[in-house]
Amino acid sequence: MKVLLVGGGGREHALGWKIAQSAVLSKLYLAPGNPGLKPLGETLPIGAEEIDRLVDAAVALAIDLVVVGPEAPLAAGLADRLAEKGVPVFGPSKAAARLESSKSFMKEVCVAAGASTAAYGRFRETGSAKEFLRAQKAPYVIKADGLAAGKGVVIAETLADADRAVDDMLGGLFGDASAEIVIEEFMTGEEASFFALCDGENVLPLIAAQDHKRAFDGDKGPNTGGMGAYSPAPVFTDDVYERTMKTIIEPVAKELARRGAPYRGVLFAGLMIENEIPRVVEFNARFGDPECQVLMRRLKSDILPALHAAATGAMKGQTLEWSDDAAALVVLAADGYPGSYKKGSPIRGVEAANALPGVVVFHAGTQEKDGALVANGGRVLNVTATGATTREAVERAYRGVDAIEWPEGFCRRDIAWRALTERA
Ligand code: AMP
Ligand code: GLY
Repeated sequence: MKVLLVGGGGREHALGWKIAQSAVLSKLYLAPGNPGLKPLGETLPIGAEEIDRLVDAAVALAIDLVVVGPEAPLAAGLADRLAEKGVPVFGPSKAAARLESSKSFMKEVCVAAGASTAAYGRFRETGSAKEFLRAQKAPYVIKADGLAAGKGVVIAETLADADRAVDDMLGGLFGDASAEIVIEEFMTGEEASFFALCDGENVLPLIAAQDHKRAFDGDKGPNTGGMGAYSPAPVFTDDVYERTMKTIIEPVAKELARRGAPYRGVLFAGLMIENEIPRVVEFNARFGDPECQVLMRRLKSDILPALHAAATGAMKGQTLEWSDDAAALVVLAADGYPGSYKKGSPIRGVEAANALPGVVVFHAGTQEKDGALVANGGRVLNVTATGATTREAVERAYRGVDAIEWPEGFCRRDIAWRALTERA
């Protein structure tokens, strides 16, 4: 099978690493890939958002399966364009990807499917939005309807801050993405990410993971794209799993099919779990980054037949085997991230880290310059490790971190603290 992998971050490196081990892979193409992916396939100089060029390349190279990592090309209709050309694609249509690209659509689908989520209202003008706020309790949750590069959610402690968020967003802070907003009930509990493959009709559960969104130890500091992850997630008990499948994943997949927007790809449910009851915080139309990386480290089966089956509506009877080992991931980020940071500082020791027991380093924001590896982003490396327990996985990951010489970078030192302290 000839596969074209779209994207070039840590998530795509992990997917490519797993796809490269497939018994049914004949050739892997990377658009645009990254220095970590480079040895695994042939790099095409095409960006993940260059829809026309991606479609042309898939046709010209007679690709058997396009695997899309990030959400932006899906929201822009890459899957639809490939489907028109008869190229199987792992990733939902633009209509189904609205589950991620429109908060109000996501809420509507949840309500129709009976999937538990925060109570909400949707607004296009400030008067009614502020009136609604006054009937809520603090903290207030205000969300831009559309994709806003991870910045579209405000959790305001005071009414004044909430009003300001409403004014900013409806005043055009995120352009079209905030022409409409959603205001919702604040949910309490513990968050986890759960994933399932869908082929338009059938669903195949994957596993759960947890990530750390804040920049600094103790879950303090600004929000980031994720500073670490681990799996299994202790909060995701067997009961939570059953409820998630029966009351959220299956009915939502069914509801999308009923609306004529069958979901093909990976459905990522961001859940809030309290008293073993899962509620939907958000849906994403892609794998989580960095959650995907720990999932790939625990997946024992060949991934490619499952991705192909999801893309072609042939998932019935498909199964996947997972390792009992735990996996942990530590993000090495550039000093200053998630604010402004410098690019171009040299990184050494990745090979030494990869030689350690259980360790695999994925590249998230690196570049090769004159044969040397340099930082080229905010989140730069993902040091993953597996181990018999979460504690062992975490210890091994930090040994990997310590083998890497990059003075301009930083990481959190408490990844998986919740799993290690509360329930170990
Ligand atoms: P989202 O982009 O919708 O995932 O929101 C980003 C983060 O905001 C989530 O991961 C939660 O930590 C938090 N959040 C969003 N919505 C709610 C809610 N209704 N109640 C509590 N926390 C929320
Ligand atoms: N780690 C959360 C996300 O990928 O959205």
